[in-house]
Amino acid sequence: KPRKPLKIMISGAPASGKGTQCELITGKYDLVHIAAGDLLRAEIAARSENGKRAKEYMEKGKLVPDEIVVMMVKDRLSQPDSAEKGWLLDGYPRSSSQATALQAFGFKPDLFILLEVPEEILVDRVVGRRLDPVTGRIYHLTYSPPETEEIAARLTQRFDDTEEKVKLRLQTHNQNVESVLSLFEDITVKVDGSLSKEVVFAKIDSALSNLIEQNILGMAAT
Ligand code: AP5
Repeated sequence: KPRKPLKIMISGAPASGKGTQCELITGKYDLVHIAAGDLLRAEIAARSENGKRAKEYMEKGKLVPDEIVVMMVKDRLSQPDSAEKGWLLDGYPRSSSQATALQAFGFKPDLFILLEVPEEILVDRVVGRRLDPVTGRIYHLTYSPPETEEIAARLTQRFDDTEEKVKLRLQTHNQNVESVLSLFEDITVKVDGSLSKEVVFAKIDSALSNLIEQNILGMAAT
């Protein structure tokens, strides 16, 4: 069926499950996944000037300045694949200035997903998180263990995934979340992110299929 490309934002505290849900969403809906944190880590890996500056903030769990983040995200959203397939923006915007900047460039989401997870669960998720550098997949030693010994042996940990640093990241999140939410209130879907990843995905999936249905009806009416 023809449909307008979906434009989705996903937000939530550190380790609330954004990346995990994005894997599941893109697996079904084939959107372009744009994660602000991944773009920043790619800059760090490339040893660029922006990467060096960004790392200083990330080490402290603070927001990287807008002059680095805004253009980085805008450039990725402006690639032809994002316009053709639709996009899934993960971890952006994290402040009202980031939201307004994007809007000024003409990028407006259809849906804003907020994953809600109690703080005591988040620390446990961060400390047990592991990443597969080969596939990019996200694991957890307890909740999503690697399938094979071979994968287990190559898993890595993020430099900001310590109990001390996640508390700083959480503080930053708590300071900013309300101001961002208030800008997207009319298109926000809040999902209980403390449930299993399959149950969380089922809720997101139903919100997305509703949205597609509305789009198709909207297109038929015009
Ligand atoms: P970023 O990389 O975006 O990190 P974050 O927001 O802290 O989020 P995470 O990636 O830690 O968690 P997630 O929600 O994706 O959870 P995941 O699915 O992996 O940002 C890092 C830093 O970059 C920031 O601190 C900031 O400095 C900077 N930055 C980024 N964006 C910026 C912006 N816009 N402006 C300025 N600065 C910016 O899951 C976590 C773990 O839990 C995994 O192990 C997973 O297996 C497990 N898990 C997931 N779901 C479930 C479930 N339902 N049940 C049980 N376990 C689960």
